[in-house]
Amino acid sequence: MGSQWSRDKVYVRALKEGYRSRAAFKLLEIQDRYHIIRETDNIVDLGASPGSWLQVERELTAGIVVGIDLSYIPPIENVISITGDFTDQMMPETVRPLMPFTSVVLSDASPKLSGQKTYDQARAIELGENALRFAEKILKPGGNFVVKSFQGQDFNILIGAVKEHFLSARTFRPRSTRRGSTEIYIVAKNFIGNERNRETSINGTNETEGPL
Ligand SMILES: C[S@@+](CC[C@H](N)C(=O)[O-])C[C@H]1O[C@@H](n2cnc3c(N)ncnc32)[C@H](O)[C@@H]1O
Repeated sequence: MGSQWSRDKVYVRALKEGYRSRAAFKLLEIQDRYHIIRETDNIVDLGASPGSWLQVERELTAGIVVGIDLSYIPPIENVISITGDFTDQMMPETVRPLMPFTSVVLSDASPKLSGQKTYDQARAIELGENALRFAEKILKPGGNFVVKSFQGQDFNILIGAVKEHFLSARTFRPRSTRRGSTEIYIVAKNFIGNERNRETSINGTNETEGPL
């Protein structure tokens, strides 16, 4: 009971601090632990509505912040919002002209749940794979990536795919996650580069981390 009570308090605290949802604290925890956002980073946030992660990002960087969601994102000062589907192949081309380079891609996107566990899990993994594909197309070498997923079937496939593209990848479950949820974040740092820019990629060992 104590735990559930303290988690409800998280929501009240979020509102008190002016955040649109309790999700803000998940990103703050990730940032506290992994320092994925630096103060001049340009950020693309996938699945960004209602916008609490965007509020946190706006506080952490002086760079450009872009949020994309299927749902309308109520305006936030100095944040560019796009209503659309980030899995659309043309979306990276829509975002590219908005910033000279992209240093961080974050995805807190989750599919609408049907209640059918296996089906929902498969769709969540697919959405995570799409977020990775988006990041591969747009991130600069050395960039960082965070993606929400759910533990279960095929989760190892997703983290394996992330590890192929980043020098480090860890899994992280924020304390502010609801009890009983299988939600988990993959936090990946130092994008190795895509075929187009791999030659300019930074050097280093192909370190992989995390309890998997
Ligand atoms: C948990 S909410 C995100 C909360 C957000 N991080 C915040 O702090 O306010 C998940 C969002 O993912 C969005 N989403 C799911 N699939 C998407 C897609 N293919 N393209 C864009 N947004 C998507 C949903 O519309 C939903 O708003």
